[in-house]
Amino acid sequence: MKKIIVLTGAGMSAESGIRTFRDSDGLWEEYKIDDVATPNGWRRNPGLVLDFYNQRRRQLLASKPNAGHYALAELEKDFDVQIITQNIDNLHERAGSSQVVHLHGELMKVRSTGPGEEVFDVSPEKPNVNLGDKCPKGYQLRPHIVWFGEAVPEIEKAERMTYDADLFLIIGTSLVVYPAAGLIHNVRPGVPIYLIDPKEVNHIPYDVTVIQKGASEGMKEFRKMLHLN
Ligand code: APR
Repeated sequence: MKKIIVLTGAGMSAESGIRTFRDSDGLWEEYKIDDVATPNGWRRNPGLVLDFYNQRRRQLLASKPNAGHYALAELEKDFDVQIITQNIDNLHERAGSSQVVHLHGELMKVRSTGPGEEVFDVSPEKPNVNLGDKCPKGYQLRPHIVWFGEAVPEIEKAERMTYDADLFLIIGTSLVVYPAAGLIHNVRPGVPIYLIDPKEVNHIPYDVTVIQKGASEGMKEFRKMLHLN
């Protein structure tokens, strides 16, 4: 079965009401990355960081997958669809996608700050994680997120997946954050690349079929291009 590797970013979840980072109303217009998405920010003011992710977790719990998420899940009927997402939301999984790799971590998980770095699920019934919330071994819990400056444990797996693609589909990312943005260089020559984004993303040094639409409408056009109903 043909393998479609999909790289998604914040734009994938925009139609679910989840803010992107670099659009005009993006998160980085309101928060300083250094304060809420770096190890320094965590050391300086862990309470502010925990609040930032508590807000985003509560927003996620109030959000639902959009038609674009469901269309990607539907594609699994005809292809081996493997998603590499920069998003920390769980909307791909909630829409039914079965193969999802989270490059930047997961909002509904937390991690021990102790040496074992054990990972725990966050219950939707208790979405807030606060100072003093500790793992069973007594270490403070932190968001299970890859912050700027931290290693991206899943990147080698994502590079291998991209190299094996028979088709590479990019949806809703400004392709400015590495190493995720560098994945496109792992696509084998001759493998078709499609990009779905309402804005022009023009710094891609490859022949890309651009669908200049939002995720939901873009996925409808993508399916037509693949001659699916
Ligand atoms: N459908 C598809 N794409 C959209 C939509 C939509 N409805 N709305 C906006 N977009 C596009 C924007 O045009 C932009 O190209 O989504 C992209 C969002 O870009 P960013 O806000 O930069 O998000 P992303 O590329 O995912 O950021 C990468 O940066 O801050 C870090 O860790 C964070 O994972 C994030 C990474």
